[in-house]
Amino acid sequence: MTTFDLLVKNAFLVTPLGSKAKAGDKQGEVFMMPEAMIGINKQQIAYVGSANQDYHGDTEIDCKGSVVTPGLVDSHTHLVFGGWRSDEFDRKLKGESYLDILRSGGGILSTVRATRKASFLELEKKTRYFLKLMFDLGVTTLEAKSGYGLDYENEKKQLLITRKLNGHPVDIVNTFLGAHAVPQEYLEDRKAYIDLLCETIIPKIKAEGLAEFCDVFCEHGVFSNEESERILKAAKAAGLSLKAHVDELEGGQGAQLAAKMACVSAEHLIAADDAGIEALAKSGTIAVLLPCTSLYLDKGYARAREMIDAGVAVAIASDFNPGSTPSPNLQLAMNLGCLKYRMTPNEVLCAVTLNAAASIDRADCIGTIEPGKQADLVIWDTLQFPMIFYRYGFNQTGAVIKKGKLFRWRRRK
Ligand code: NIG
Ligand code: FE
Repeated sequence: MTTFDLLVKNAFLVTPLGSKAKAGDKQGEVFMMPEAMIGINKQQIAYVGSANQDYHGDTEIDCKGSVVTPGLVDSHTHLVFGGWRSDEFDRKLKGESYLDILRSGGGILSTVRATRKASFLELEKKTRYFLKLMFDLGVTTLEAKSGYGLDYENEKKQLLITRKLNGHPVDIVNTFLGAHAVPQEYLEDRKAYIDLLCETIIPKIKAEGLAEFCDVFCEHGVFSNEESERILKAAKAAGLSLKAHVDELEGGQGAQLAAKMACVSAEHLIAADDAGIEALAKSGTIAVLLPCTSLYLDKGYARAREMIDAGVAVAIASDFNPGSTPSPNLQLAMNLGCLKYRMTPNEVLCAVTLNAAASIDRADCIGTIEPGKQADLVIWDTLQFPMIFYRYGFNQTGAVIKKGKLFRWRRRK
């Protein structure tokens, strides 16, 4: 007889396999097994396979055929921010563009003012609340970008909050996004801000272990391709891994830049062109696509199908932030992945688990349900896998298991 700490029984298991991002046809290859058993010891998966009468658990959960997938990975969020931007909603509805609002001193710059003003404790409390919502929706790991401080102290404040909340219970990977916008006080001398980022702030962020990745908002009117390249080079020299917001709004060879810089991921890509897609496929850069942002900005959708067909590994994330996506709901992004990108449920599952994990350098330990991986699982409130993608607008999780610990177990119909 074998006894596990936790035994998940009678699961309809659906998971990608492996420890590397899946591209092209492989993105849709998921492993499915009805009546599966998952044995968990401490924080790790120890057994995955068919039912075995000799296997028991100190705690046992009978899923009664419910779908079980890996915990969701939200690999692009702007999680820590002061205030909201509802005061700009009216302008947006009247047709003022995202970049025009930013140019007028609103948008990101408005959130920077609110974030600088907010105390550590206020921001921490708000972030805890978001984490609870996201965890309930099945997110067991997420990436959090700074970018609303735009000076050393306030960027650090954001990064320290997510570092403090890391593992409570969601695992958090920090990304430094000091190049999210040029702060108000440097608008007359943007070069001075970029110098400060490259020569002082980025090396300090790395030296203090505050972030693993560096990102840049490469876009017309924000940071040019040349400026972005300089920032990414400084980050690489400092020893940070690279990400880039590229081709989100107007586009302009951002995907090519991300590929050239060997970024781990290129994010948004709504306006990426054919050459950009080809460059990503060649460099193995993961495309992190953000369909909720497309919905909210009404700017069209990234060409996910073409990317997959060209051999680019596609991940999907929420982009949760107070401007372009005031929703922390990764499940909605999954629905849109099917409805707007025309990706299959299998491809979308891979996009929010294994490929998302790879886009934050975690594919070796999360993103699939296999022995040796961390025991992060979602038990869904359905017996049929496609149901998760077909139904939308409400939380469909039944339970979340994080590092072998069971949180909440409810069954609806
Ligand atoms: O990914 N584009 C840059 N950053 C966010 C928006 C941030 C904001 O508007 O506050 C995005 O869309
Ligand atoms: Fe973003």
